[in-house]
Amino acid sequence: MWGGRFASPPAEIMAEINASIGFDKRLHAQDIRGSMAHAAMLAAKGIISAEDAAAIRFGLAAIEAEIDAGTFQFSRELEDIHLNIEARLTERIGPAGGRLHTARSRNDQVATDFRLWVRDTLDTLDLQFKDFQQALAEKALAHAATVMPGFTHLQTAQPVTFGHHLLAYVEMTARDRGRLQDARRRLNECPLGSAALAGTSFGIDRDMTAAELGFDRPTANSLDAVSDRDFLMEALSMAAIAAVHLSRLAEEIVIWTSAPFGFVRLSDAFTTGSSIMPQKRNPDAAELVRAKTGRITGALIGILTVMKGLPLAYAKDMQEDKEGGFDALATLSLALAAMAGMIRDLEPNAGAMKAAAGGGYSTATDLADWLVRRLNLPFREAHHVTGRIVAAAAATGLALDELGLDEMQAIEPRITAEVFEVLSVENSVKSRTSYGGTAPANVEAQAKRWLEKLAAE
Ligand code: ARG
Repeated sequence: MWGGRFASPPAEIMAEINASIGFDKRLHAQDIRGSMAHAAMLAAKGIISAEDAAAIRFGLAAIEAEIDAGTFQFSRELEDIHLNIEARLTERIGPAGGRLHTARSRNDQVATDFRLWVRDTLDTLDLQFKDFQQALAEKALAHAATVMPGFTHLQTAQPVTFGHHLLAYVEMTARDRGRLQDARRRLNECPLGSAALAGTSFGIDRDMTAAELGFDRPTANSLDAVSDRDFLMEALSMAAIAAVHLSRLAEEIVIWTSAPFGFVRLSDAFTTGSSIMPQKRNPDAAELVRAKTGRITGALIGILTVMKGLPLAYAKDMQEDKEGGFDALATLSLALAAMAGMIRDLEPNAGAMKAAAGGGYSTATDLADWLVRRLNLPFREAHHVTGRIVAAAAATGLALDELGLDEMQAIEPRITAEVFEVLSVENSVKSRTSYGGTAPANVEAQAKRWLEKLAAE
C-alpha cells in the first residue's frame, strides 16, 4: 500500500509485531459498513463518480459475503483488516477500489470501526444485563419472605430476606447499565473524515457519514478524533465495575453452596464433581466468574497504561487497544450469561438459612429497639443492657429467645414477656418496614416494581 516509498519488504519479525489482522479481522462488518457510508458520501459530494461508488459498494458486499462464508483469504502482509479489505476490493473491481481511500486514513477508519464495534457490543451487553436483572428479580419475588442471616464482617448481623439480598444486585446492575448508557452516549460521535490527523482538503460531508452510521454527530476536532480511546476506557471502566459486582455475588454463591453454610443448592447443571472425592459438588462457574474479573480489570489497566504517555495524534501503540477490549467485553458477556443461569438455577435451603439467621444473636438489635420503644431507654443504654443479656445467653449456650424471662429481668426488671415477639427472625424482618428495608412486604413490592419496569423497557 505504500510501495512508492519502499524498495524492500519488512523483516519477518517486523511483520509479525506489526500485523493486527489476527485479531482485528473481528472488525470486518464495521469496516465494511464504514466504507459503504464513506463511498456513498464521496459520490454524493461529487468526489468520486456514481459508477465508482456503485462498484465499490457492490465489491464490498461481495467481500462481506466471502468473509461470512469463510472463503476470504486474510493476509498478514496486508497488516490489518482495513488493508486486507481494501486490497481485495481493488482485486475484485479494479482501479475504482483505489478511490475508496480518498479523504480518509486508517487512523479515522480504525477509530470509527472500533467505536461501531464497542457500540454494538454495549447494546448486546445491555440486553444481557437486563436479563440478569430479570433473573434476580424473579428469584427475589419467590423468596421475598425467605429469611437468611445478613452479615457485616461476615459475622451474623441481622436477619434479612433472600429476596432483599438478591435485589441489592438488581440495584447494582441498574447503576452498571446507567454507566453503560452514559458511555454509549458519549462515544456516539463519528471520527470518519478526520483523515490522518488534520482533516482533509476534499469537500466531504461528515454529517452525512455520521448519520448513515447511526452516530449523533461528527467529532469536532480531528486530532482528538484519531487519538481518543476514552470511549474504550469508559466501556472498560463500566465492565470492570460490573465484573466486580458479579464477582461479589459469585463469591457469595461459593460461600452459600459450601457444606458448612448449605444455604443454597446449585443443580447438576451448574456444578462439577471431583475426580477423587466422590462427595464433591463444586461451584466452578461461580469461581470462574469471580476469576474472570481479573481479565476485565486487567484490560482496563492495560488501555489506561497504553494511552497515558502518547503525544497527539495517532501512534501505533493504539493498535494495542483491541485485544484487551475484545476479550474484556466478551468475558463480561460470558460472565453475565453464566451468572443469570446460576441465579435461575439455584434453590435456597430455607431451613438452613433460617437456622443460621437465628444464630449469632441476630435479633439483639430488635431487643435493644424494644427497650427503647417500650421502656424509653436511651439507645446507648439499651445497647448496654442488651449486651449483658446476650452475654448471659452466651454463657449458658442459649439463643436469645431461649433465655428465660426471669434471667432477662435479672438484668432489666421492667422487661415483660412481650419481648419474645421481637426475638424471632420472622418478626425481626417483618418489622424492617422503613423505605429500602428488608420487610417481606417491601421486598415483594420492590421485586414487582423491578419486574414491571424491566418488562416495560
Ligand atoms: N491497525 C491499525 C490500528 O489498529 C490501524 C491504523 C493504522 N494507522 C497507521 N497510521 N499505521 O491501530
